[in-house]
Amino acid sequence: MIDLHSHILPGIDDGAANLEISIAMARASVANGVTVLACTPHIMPGVWNNTGAQIRQGVARLQEVLDEQAIPLRLVTGADVHIAPDLVDGVRSGRVLSLHDTRYILLELPHHVAPPHVDECFFQLLTEGYIPVFTHPERLSWIQQHYDLMRRLAASGVWIQITAGSLTGSFGRRAQYWAEKMLSDGLVHILASDAHNVSHRPPILAEGWEIACRLVGKEEAQHLVVTRPYGILCNEPPNKLPCMLAENLANSEIVQSGRPESQSSRQSGDGSPGAGERRGVAGWLQRFF
Ligand SMILES: [Fe+2]
Repeated sequence: MIDLHSHILPGIDDGAANLEISIAMARASVANGVTVLACTPHIMPGVWNNTGAQIRQGVARLQEVLDEQAIPLRLVTGADVHIAPDLVDGVRSGRVLSLHDTRYILLELPHHVAPPHVDECFFQLLTEGYIPVFTHPERLSWIQQHYDLMRRLAASGVWIQITAGSLTGSFGRRAQYWAEKMLSDGLVHILASDAHNVSHRPPILAEGWEIACRLVGKEEAQHLVVTRPYGILCNEPPNKLPCMLAENLANSEIVQSGRPESQSSRQSGDGSPGAGERRGVAGWLQRFF
């Protein structure tokens, strides 16, 4: 599996407090069945002032340590980016990181207040050729009043990631309810761990995947943790990847044109952000699939 959301880098946000915990998280991820993991610390101005350059350095350092210890986990760069009005400039300048320098960017919204003009912010990224991946909407305290927003965003091309721990009940009954509902409604593209440590927020992607299998079937569950994450790392355009379940359920035109191709026949991107940059990760991944 590929885990595209993890706070494994040491001492950089509210995730791993030190290198020892990072190593323990890496071992736990491997034991959980993860082969590739995106290091996605928070970028939240005024709270977590991480930059792209710092994160790249942190990933390179941690990868060295994992290699020294023969822990078979490939790390890639990323960030859990708090929504802000200047994100397009931020990505272009290198201050903000997308996932593995592709067109896909993890975006988180405030937990307790629905920000105004949120559609606009997502739309701005979409029109510039980026694909926002909206992280863990099921855990937002305002989802109940704004569930329509999730449908609207998903319909307009925003991708949605839910957290494995929400499905297992680690975040309480409410998050579990909304995670199950979003999955059953076919609004979810990606399942990730969003692990922060090995104690109360451990990497438990496999446990989430098992529940997803029961809710949406094994094929779709596989898309959540392998096919779409792999496509993201290869910077595939969304229409080359399995469309979300809602589109399948509706049997829309997109289903006809956007069915997944075999991995070997896929082409890389088309000139939009980060296009064509497989940069060796594809070959590395193929050893595991
Ligand atoms: Fe996160």
